[in-house]
Amino acid sequence: MKKICKKIMVVMMVLILALSMAACAGGNQEGSGSSKENGGGSANNSGDLADNSEEAANESESLADDSKGEGEKIGIAMPSKDLQRWSEDGAYMKEAMESKGYTVDIQYANNDIGVQASQIENMITGGCDVLVIAAIDGGALSEVLEKAKAADIPVIAYDRLIMNTDAVSYYATFDNEKIGIMQGQYIADKLDLENQDGPFNFEIFTGPTDDNNVNFYFGGAMSVLQRYVDEGKLVVKSGTEVSMAACATPNWSQEEAQKRMDNIIAKSYTGGEKIDAVLSSNDSVANGITNALLAAGYTEENFPIITGQDCEITSVKNMLKGLQSMSVFVDTRRLANVTADMVDAIMNGEEPEINNMKDYDNGTGIIPTYLCDPQVCDIDNYKEVLIDSGYYTEDRLQ
Ligand code: BGC
Repeated sequence: MKKICKKIMVVMMVLILALSMAACAGGNQEGSGSSKENGGGSANNSGDLADNSEEAANESESLADDSKGEGEKIGIAMPSKDLQRWSEDGAYMKEAMESKGYTVDIQYANNDIGVQASQIENMITGGCDVLVIAAIDGGALSEVLEKAKAADIPVIAYDRLIMNTDAVSYYATFDNEKIGIMQGQYIADKLDLENQDGPFNFEIFTGPTDDNNVNFYFGGAMSVLQRYVDEGKLVVKSGTEVSMAACATPNWSQEEAQKRMDNIIAKSYTGGEKIDAVLSSNDSVANGITNALLAAGYTEENFPIITGQDCEITSVKNMLKGLQSMSVFVDTRRLANVTADMVDAIMNGEEPEINNMKDYDNGTGIIPTYLCDPQVCDIDNYKEVLIDSGYYTEDRLQ
């Protein structure tokens, strides 16, 4: 909205300047004929005028640029720089917004919920026009977002849905259920669960229950795997209940995942039994699991199937060494561009492109969502998915 008003003002200023210069030039003005000539800049005696209005236009363009920098500021609140995922999302988003002419205030909160809330508050008081937020805890921002709503600042939930507040206007993310299904299906295919009876020893690690995405990751994966658990083909030997809460990893922490896997191995795999597959919802968790398995003596010869998500460099390197089996590639360049387009549409008073109006209810109603497509990545296709697409150079994976 503000952008439209600004554009109208700029156009009016150009017209006023051009008209007053035309009046000063005092030349032979013949209504529409001369203005046509002036537009073409061809007639000699109107040449000055044409030049002048061009200058005026340039000047107001730079005025517009200045006011853009001052007025059209996008606040981006990210969880932490610790995970490669978020620092790259942040960098791509900054680049995408700046290339559209916006000023960007980007803040990382070191995974501290209080820090993130106060960063968002500063963005509100600092005059940001739109907020893009990847929440640390999707349920902890209601209070601060009341202030955004009161200040009429649209909020885009980035990657993770922000719950229980009607201050959220849009949501941009990947198809989270599909990610879970891809992970579950990978395990089903590699163990050939359709045809084999097993039983295969299987453990489950998902993310924190305060990340709404985890409902979809866990739900998607178990929509494929639950029936094999029920049939006894997959056996959760640790005895962990097959529920999201029991299989959660606080904060997506690699260390927590490693500790839990250490304990599972020490308690339930003491008689030489082997773990055949581990469902892991993302790469940081998969890295913890991998470290615990290596410490327990597993090698690339007998490593279990382990899933992941994000194609973080450590995980891709592990894939190349025959450790982690797969990851789901979420192209953060794509999500950054989708989000920048959403911002642009909002600033122009238009409706952003949306492709899901049914799955993401944040407790106050359905949030209009754009879902990007994830992609399975493993040793067989990583070159095509990650290198040919320009996401990584080969040397980053050495
Ligand atoms: C994201 C994952 C990421 C995880 C840990 C989730 O909300 O969707 O891609 O691996 O957070 O940061």
